[in-house]
Amino acid sequence: MSGWDAPLLRELGENTRRLQALATQNPPKPSHTRIFTISNQKGGVGKTTTTVNLAAALASKGLKVLVIDLDPQGNASTALGVPHQEGVKGIYEVLTEGTPIAKVIQPSTESPNLGCIPATIDLAGAEIEIVTQIDRDKWHNLLKTALDEYLATIDVKPDYVIIDCPPSLGLLTINAFVAAREVLIPIQCEYYALEGLSQLLRNIDLIQKNLNPQLVLSTILLTMFDSRTKLASQVVADVREHFPSQTLTAVIPRNVRISEAPSFGRTVINHDPSSSGAISYMEAAVEIAFRGAQNGR
Ligand SMILES: Nc1ncnc2c1ncn2[C@@H]1O[C@H](COP(=O)(O)OP(=O)(O)OP(=O)(O)O)[C@@H](O)[C@H]1O
Ligand SMILES: [Mg+2]
Repeated sequence: MSGWDAPLLRELGENTRRLQALATQNPPKPSHTRIFTISNQKGGVGKTTTTVNLAAALASKGLKVLVIDLDPQGNASTALGVPHQEGVKGIYEVLTEGTPIAKVIQPSTESPNLGCIPATIDLAGAEIEIVTQIDRDKWHNLLKTALDEYLATIDVKPDYVIIDCPPSLGLLTINAFVAAREVLIPIQCEYYALEGLSQLLRNIDLIQKNLNPQLVLSTILLTMFDSRTKLASQVVADVREHFPSQTLTAVIPRNVRISEAPSFGRTVINHDPSSSGAISYMEAAVEIAFRGAQNGR
């Protein structure tokens, strides 16, 4: 065997073992809908990638998932194969016009168990419209009101609602914090990874104290891990030290299959299920489900 293909063969063998382990694991259905917001005001840390791949992973295990695309960029809608061009009704109409959620959910091409509320570019103007046209005491509750009404009126409730936030701490993100029960923070394994984190934690704390006492920071996921750099391992160690109970054992590697999947309108879970990126997101999803059951969530 030539030297260069040994690590590749090792990875293939390892991936096969991990896939076999995953095949035997059946994540439990939560007793009530778990509502996650995927938040980090830092841009490009893997919020959207985490949203769509966890959603597709849970759906592939038979759980019913609703993704709410709360970012005007509409990247989650794209990755889930859901149309979101101008004129498509989506989360903008829910927030600014009170359109019921049931009317704007689109099926995702990724799984029959997966629905998505798309975001169009109209959402970029939503914060200003909300502030100028809606009573102040309702600003923060728009998404929660719509979601509560939806969950109260449907027969088969989703097991998971996952909200993809924009990279800011504006009114859209606050609406997600108020509507959600759990926060998942993706942290990129890079220099500056922890910068801004204390501000994010302070904001979560403020939301807990003032707007949503039920909100918990339940999950931290390390993303874009590059095993060749010492720095990445240092970030992993730092985050685990600070957040021992929240940080998932699963770590998402930097993986080209993950980054190319959206250009096919797909998640990596379906684009290349045997890639280490897909396997890691499957492991993260299964871990979230089992930890939720353990913690009564
Ligand atoms: N594990 C990974 N390996 C390789 N590329 C990745 C990985 N995770 C994310 N990416 C790529 O990094 C970029 C940023 O990821 P993503 O869009 O998920 O971040 P984000 O936090 O949602 O960004 P924004 O703040 O703009 O919403 C994208 O091009 C994505 O494809
Ligand atoms: Mg994003």
